[in-house]
Amino acid sequence: MTSTPAQGTPSQGVGLGMPELPAPDYPQDVRARLETDAREIIARYPDSRSALLPMLHLVQSEEGHVTRTGMRFCAETLDLTTAEVTAVATFYTMYRRRPSGDYQVGVCTNTLCAVMGGDAIFEDLQQHLGVGNNGTTPDGKVTLEHIECNAACDFAPVVMVNWEFFDNMTPAAARQLVDDLIEGRPVTPTRGAPLCTFKETARILAGFPDERPGAVEAGGSAGPASLLGLRLAKGQPLGARVVHPRDAAGQGGEPSHGASWGDGPRTGPSPASHPSSHDAPSTTSASDPAHPAGPVAGSAGSAEEEEGE
Ligand code: FES
Repeated sequence: MTSTPAQGTPSQGVGLGMPELPAPDYPQDVRARLETDAREIIARYPDSRSALLPMLHLVQSEEGHVTRTGMRFCAETLDLTTAEVTAVATFYTMYRRRPSGDYQVGVCTNTLCAVMGGDAIFEDLQQHLGVGNNGTTPDGKVTLEHIECNAACDFAPVVMVNWEFFDNMTPAAARQLVDDLIEGRPVTPTRGAPLCTFKETARILAGFPDERPGAVEAGGSAGPASLLGLRLAKGQPLGARVVHPRDAAGQGGEPSHGASWGDGPRTGPSPASHPSSHDAPSTTSASDPAHPAGPVAGSAGSAEEEEGE
């Protein structure tokens, strides 16, 4: 018979104790300011409870993370229970639950970024900064975390700082990026709005205008690889081959984190001589005469021919 530890034993990491006291309120002046902002947010929705997500961003913009005080404020303002607010605040990873840095540096370690170098970048930054996942540097400048896919796979590996994109990163470029952030040197995202602090970002996410000159006009678009796939799907000529920036930069050069990349001439080894398993001939259902799988293999060949291979 297997013995089960009693509920709440230290081995389960659950402590027994007195119920938490109610969270303290904001100072009067802070509360008055937040109430003005809250009224503006709530007015956008037919039901006040629908305003919870931007409200959580609002309180996050005040303290840099969602505190118990912030959740109490949301609950009182939206006529919800603190349990309901807590359930939402703990569900979404964009809400931070403990004090963190001015710059949240997220390294995408989802599948594509991971194999393109995201895992190496994350490992390297942990050593460089001396912090682990969700760790903050002692000066309070940088919080490091690994993040899931940010729908920018054609720019892999991607690093995000306060949700702004830094594309096609390398360990060296990522180290330079965090060093610049810590030293207060200006850094420029590859695309999108200029960088601001985490609190400022949270206020923008709460729906307040970004009044920095040029911030709204700054935009991004799909990357060359995505657009190539779109052209392929539409049966349009493919044109120039997309070259990874590290190849385009001259065989192994380290692009700066502010670099941007577009279509370029085909360079580097041809797919036929490329050593990666991705390009190697493989036995698949498409090449199995006993189980023909339709035009997959033929289509791939046509695409290459269209590129002038
Ligand atoms: S896997 Fe990193 S952006 Fe998609």
